[in-house]
Amino acid sequence: MTRRRDIAALRNDFPLITGSGKLVYLDSAATTQKPITVLDAIRDYYVRDNANVHRAAHALADRATTAFENARRAAQAFVNAQHAHEIIWTRGTTESINLVAQSYGASALRAGDEILISVLEHHSNIVPWQLVAAKTGATLRAIDIDDRGDLDLDDFHRKLSPDTKIVAIGHVSNALGTINPVAEIVRAAHAVGAVVVVDGAQAAAHLPIDVRDLDCDFYALSGHKMFGPTGIGVLYGKEALLDAMPPWQAGGEMIETVTLEKSTFNRLPYKFEAGTPNIADAIGLGAAIEYLNRIDRDALRAHEANVLAMARARLGQMEGVRIIGDARASTAIVSFAVDGAHPHDVGTLLDQQSVAVRAGHHCAMPLMQRLGVPGTVRASFCLYNSAADVERLVAGIDKVRQLL
Ligand SMILES: Cc1ncc(COP(=O)(O)O)c(C=O)c1O
Repeated sequence: MTRRRDIAALRNDFPLITGSGKLVYLDSAATTQKPITVLDAIRDYYVRDNANVHRAAHALADRATTAFENARRAAQAFVNAQHAHEIIWTRGTTESINLVAQSYGASALRAGDEILISVLEHHSNIVPWQLVAAKTGATLRAIDIDDRGDLDLDDFHRKLSPDTKIVAIGHVSNALGTINPVAEIVRAAHAVGAVVVVDGAQAAAHLPIDVRDLDCDFYALSGHKMFGPTGIGVLYGKEALLDAMPPWQAGGEMIETVTLEKSTFNRLPYKFEAGTPNIADAIGLGAAIEYLNRIDRDALRAHEANVLAMARARLGQMEGVRIIGDARASTAIVSFAVDGAHPHDVGTLLDQQSVAVRAGHHCAMPLMQRLGVPGTVRASFCLYNSAADVERLVAGIDKVRQLL
């Protein structure tokens, strides 16, 4: 397959981007826009194939089941999992992490055990661990960062010990864009017998993901942050771990036999997929993966790196603008503060100029506390953004500075 290298042309695939006049969308870290092929896949499913999966003995159900399981295989290939049954459909990263915390964590952790996260984490990779720590008597510890916004690896090695049973770490920070050295973290964690859960929410749209190369035990991602629909995501888990874990939610589909006294459970992945799954959006996510597969990932990475470098250079030259974070490796996210202005006011005034950014704590309050700021303004770029969008952002901030 020849992959698409003309990244600038990709924006034409996104009806909301091309159809919304002068809007500059710089909030893809919150959710990406959707290409037409994803929208078509969801519509086609409802128009042609809609039926419940795995159960009914009719042709529609067969087609729905085939499309649904093909999407699972697409997700398997996307993260390079060994088996399709290592891919569990969830509502997204948040649910994936809660599944691991409640099923693996609650059954494996004992009082005195430690869970190691970092101060860079999104709340969905903090709070589930707080809940399971409270339930089991385990302790939650956090790796610090350095002044650039990179993980402090010395602190990681200091805090890692035989008491560490789970290391839960983001692949990419949603607030600063920092790319964490996941493979190195996994090697060290495994050496003390800990399992590693990777929050891949911010990686999937930007980086190749190879769970076997990373050797992580669990990997979580969200469809809506990688050009797919909301309400669908993936938990990858190593077969042996998933097999040994107790079910999480209970109901139809996850059982093998049920009597009024007791039940036995279905094989993987269905053991963790209670109830009717989100069939249409799994198929939509399959289409998003297919969309990404047709793009040359090196060309995409180079394009995003250019846009980011330009944004950092242009913002860096602006008087009264302070860039927050300077990670050694990052995806296309830039966080900044404007002197004398609250991030929310900057966000609102940019919105009045049709520049959509995120402002606030980005669901990373511990990170904001660590950085000593109430929040930041965050511009996040992806494949449909360009140098022209950076210029609109800069012009918008200029105007904000005049107004405030
Ligand atoms: C790093 C990170 N982790 C987890 C999440 C949660 O993802 P979701 O809300 O799709 O479950 C987000 C969403 O912003 C995120 O950026």
